[in-house]
Amino acid sequence: MKKDYDGLWLKRLPAALPPCGTSAETASAELTAFFAGRGAGETFLLEPDERLGEGCRITKEAGVWHIRGGESGLLYGAYDLIQALLTGRDADGLTSSPRYALRMLNSWDNMDGSVERGYSGRSLWFEGGRFEYDPERVRYLGRLLASAHINVLCVNNVNVHAPAQRLVTDLLPDLAAFAALLRPFGVRVMVSVDFSLPLSAGLDTADPLSPDVLRFWRETADRAWRAVPDLAGFLVKADSEHRPGPNAYGRSHAEGANMLAQAVASYGGVIVWRAFVYDCLQDWRDTRTDRPCAAYELYQPQDGDFAGNVILQVKNGPYDFQVREPVSPLLLSMRKTCLALELQLAQEYTGQQIDIYAMPPMWREIFEIMPADRIRAVAAVSNLGRGYFWTGHPFAALNLYAFGRLAWDPDTAPERVTDDWIRLSYELPDPDRESLLRLLLDSRNVYERYTAPLGLCWMVTPHTHYGPNPDGYEFDLWGTYHRADRTGVGIDRTARGTGYTEQYPEALRALYEDPQTCPDRLLLFFHRLPYDYRMRDGRTLIQRIYDDHFAGCEAAEAMAETLKALALPEPDRREAAERMALQLKNAREWRDVINTFFYRFCGVPDERGRTIYS
Ligand code: GCU
Repeated sequence: MKKDYDGLWLKRLPAALPPCGTSAETASAELTAFFAGRGAGETFLLEPDERLGEGCRITKEAGVWHIRGGESGLLYGAYDLIQALLTGRDADGLTSSPRYALRMLNSWDNMDGSVERGYSGRSLWFEGGRFEYDPERVRYLGRLLASAHINVLCVNNVNVHAPAQRLVTDLLPDLAAFAALLRPFGVRVMVSVDFSLPLSAGLDTADPLSPDVLRFWRETADRAWRAVPDLAGFLVKADSEHRPGPNAYGRSHAEGANMLAQAVASYGGVIVWRAFVYDCLQDWRDTRTDRPCAAYELYQPQDGDFAGNVILQVKNGPYDFQVREPVSPLLLSMRKTCLALELQLAQEYTGQQIDIYAMPPMWREIFEIMPADRIRAVAAVSNLGRGYFWTGHPFAALNLYAFGRLAWDPDTAPERVTDDWIRLSYELPDPDRESLLRLLLDSRNVYERYTAPLGLCWMVTPHTHYGPNPDGYEFDLWGTYHRADRTGVGIDRTARGTGYTEQYPEALRALYEDPQTCPDRLLLFFHRLPYDYRMRDGRTLIQRIYDDHFAGCEAAEAMAETLKALALPEPDRREAAERMALQLKNAREWRDVINTFFYRFCGVPDERGRTIYS
C-alpha cells in the first residue's frame, strides 16, 4: 500500500537507497538491482575513500559507474548519480564537494506537536510533550535530507518553551534514539537551548561569567554528548523577542556565546548564535530608531570577539524574511567571525505554502553578493510537517530540495535545480515540464508584485502574516513601519536619514544611497519618496505601485490557467488547484487593499482607468 509519506522528489528514487554504513558490496548490488528493475542495465561500484570526506567522485569506467567518497560522500554520490541518470544528465567525471560544511535545517517544532510558522501540519517527531514518530517516516526524512545533502537537523524551535528544556535533561535518551535513526543518512541533530536554563535547574543566575554557570553548561554538554556523541551543537536565540540572554547580566553576546562555546568545545560542538536581535518594544513615534540597523550596530563592534566554535547565524535580510530585502550588511562585514546565513523555507511572509513562491531565484541573488570565504554554514527554517504533503503545497518541496542543493553548491543555477526537482518529482511531457519550470521561476516575481513591490515591507496582517493589512503593524512596537502619509511612503535610510546605507561596503552603499541608482525592487526599502516621484522608466511612483499590483494579480490569474493545463498526477493536481484558488483570492485582496490604501492618501487615479476602490 502507498504510504502517505511516500512522496516528494524521492518517489522515483530507490526506496532503500543504501544508507551510510551499508557495505560497499551490498550498496553497489542494490543500486545495480534498482536500475535493472527499470530496464536500464547500469552497474555500480561504490569505493570508499575517506580522504574525500563528504565529497565524491563519479566516473564511468568500462561500462561500470564508480562512486568514490567518504562515508556520507558515497551516499551523496549515489544520490547525485541516480538523480543525474533519472534527469538525463551526464555524470561521468563529476566531482563534488560542499561549499558549506554545515547545511542545517532548523525546525521550529514545539514539544506539544505544534510548529511555529508551520504550514504543513503538525510536527513530524513531537507530540504531547515528547518524541512521538513513526520510525519509517523519520528514515524517509533522513533519505530526503541526504538526497539534498543536508547534514544537520535542529529538532526544536528557537523559542525554547519549558517542555523543550528537557531535551538536554531527562529526554536525552529519546533524543539519542531519534538521532540514531538519522545518523545513517549523514544527518546529525542539533538542539535549541534556553540561555536561562541554569535558572530552571535551580541556580540563582545564568550570568555567563559565573563559574557555576559555566560548570552547569559543562555538565549539560557532558550529558548531551554522552547520549549523542555526534551532536552537532546548540542553537541559541538570546536577547531576542523576549528570550533570555546575557544582556540581563550586563554581558555582551560574545561573552554569552563564548561561555557556551567553551562548554561544548571538547566535544567538537558548535554554538550557533542567532543575530536576530532588535528592539521589539519600539515606540512608533520614535523615527530615529530603525530596526534594520540593529543587528549590525550590536554585532559589528564585537567582530573578532567570538570563539572559533561560535557561528553567528544571520537572517538573509536585516528585517525578517520579507518578500524582498537587501542582503544583511552583517553578512558582508563580519570578517573575523564564523557566519551562517539563515533562510526561511517556511513561507511565513511569502504565501504560507498556499501561494506558490519558489525560492531559488531569491537565494541566487543572496549567494552572488555574499563573500563565500566568510560563511561557514547555511541554515533554513524548515517547511516540513506531518500533513499528507510534507510541505503543504506539493510545489513547496522544491524549496527544501533546492536549499540543500544550493547550500552544497551555491553556483547551481536556479533553472537547473528547479528543473531537476520537477524531473525527479513528476513524469511530465516536455511542454508541461517547461511550463511548470517557467511558472515556478516566475512565481516570486508574481507574488512580490501583488503583495509588496518596490521593497515595501510589513503591510501584512499582524500575527498570522497572511493577507494584507497596511497599517496592521504601523502603530505597533515591532519597529516595522512604512510611514505612508499623504505626501509619500518609505523610510529614508540614507546618510541623510537613518544611516542604514552606511553599513554596506562602498559599492553597495553608493548604489543604494541614490534613488537614481537604487534598484527599483528595493527603492522603497531605502528611500522615502513622494507619490509623483518619476521612476527611471518614466512612470510616477504611485502609477508604478498600481501597475505592479494589477500586473501581479493578472500574472497570478495566468498562472492558474497554466496550472490547469498541466498533466500533474493526483492528488498533487487537486491540491495545487485548491491552493491556487486561495492564492487568486489572496492576490485580488492584496491588489485592492493596497491600491485603495494609497489612493485614499494621494487621490491620484490610475492612469489606465482600472478599478481602484475608494
Ligand atoms: C519571526 C517569526 C517568529 C520567530 C522569529 C525568529 O519574527 O514571526 O515566529 O520566532 O522570526 O526568527 O526567531
